[in-house]
Amino acid sequence: MKKGLPKVTPWEVSGNVDYNRLVREFGIAKIDQKLLNRIKKHTKELHPMLRRGIFFAHRDLNWILDEYEKGNKFFLYTGCGPSGPLHLGHLQTWIFTKWLQDKFGVELWFQFTDDEKFLFKKKSYEEIQKWTYDNMLDVIALGFNPKKTHFLIDTKHANLMYPEAIKVAKRITFSMVRSSFGFNESTNTGAIFYTAMQAVPAFLPSIIKKKKIPCLIPLGIDQDAHFRLTRDILPKLGHYKPAILHGVFLPPLTGVAGKMSTSESNEAILTTDSPKEVERKIKKYAFSGGRKSLTEHKEKGGDPSIDVSFQYLKYLFEPNDKKLEEIEKKYVKGEMTTTELKEITIKKINAFLKQHQRKRKRAKKKMHRYIYKTR
Ligand code: TRP
Repeated sequence: MKKGLPKVTPWEVSGNVDYNRLVREFGIAKIDQKLLNRIKKHTKELHPMLRRGIFFAHRDLNWILDEYEKGNKFFLYTGCGPSGPLHLGHLQTWIFTKWLQDKFGVELWFQFTDDEKFLFKKKSYEEIQKWTYDNMLDVIALGFNPKKTHFLIDTKHANLMYPEAIKVAKRITFSMVRSSFGFNESTNTGAIFYTAMQAVPAFLPSIIKKKKIPCLIPLGIDQDAHFRLTRDILPKLGHYKPAILHGVFLPPLTGVAGKMSTSESNEAILTTDSPKEVERKIKKYAFSGGRKSLTEHKEKGGDPSIDVSFQYLKYLFEPNDKKLEEIEKKYVKGEMTTTELKEITIKKINAFLKQHQRKRKRAKKKMHRYIYKTR
């Protein structure tokens, strides 16, 4: 791909992502008002991330609801690639997933891909294990129902997963993954195999329960490529194709292009950041849609659509539409300054993180309830 062009693969997201282009290229469907109404029939209310187009596209969601309405409940599947500390962008998908779990009363299978991160990152196996443990604490802190949530850790549940992964892998050729992911002759063979592991949780519950169960996967849209392959293969193995819900990326601090990531320093707010650290990062790095001078700002107003502090309120921290709209209006009119807007966002993030960090501390004791037990 030419330098400068936006890129969206499971291992790289850069540039100004054009989501409408992805919808066309990936062949996915936008979530329209009719589908929102259909979801609302079951959930009573719509999550802000649905109302605001943050979860904006899907594959086969109507089928999931058809089955649900017939009494054939789906299960949820999502995952985490543990390679470092988690940030707010990771939590976005999972906060939404928890809402789905609560509203539909369904099981969640949560995959920790320690194998993937070992294979794709320049990090030791031991270091990845450390992050796996650490990341599990954050996921538990989000409050998933322990009775209905099952963690799969690829290397720990290998006895269960590997026999299924090879059935998938037998249907994937090198040429398929090469064109899907841009691999070449120097790509390590573990990486070439990996998609087969990410496919497994989409049908493992059906194997365990010995009946076909529909699967719904909420994800950041960069993960779609794995499931395009998975969806082609699973019917050949006698399984349902998993349905997908696609989310857009939480912008990095530095601007609304790309996605929040810890690979670049100062782009992310970590789940373990102190209130001081959050304040420092927002004040220093959060890209502002405000004007150069206060006089100009008061006169011409700011642009919330490129203002990262405003976007964080929209994505995660101001669920009340009226309040969000008020802030937006004031900012556009120049009645609210960037400093004032940042103060609001800092407060909201810190209030959230205070709770999160408290629950994170207590998560250690709960971990055994989440990790799936093989008999
Ligand atoms: N590959 C994902 C990552 O790097 C982790 C993951 C595994 C995942 N299974 C998933 C993400 C299913 C979304 C849905 O973060």
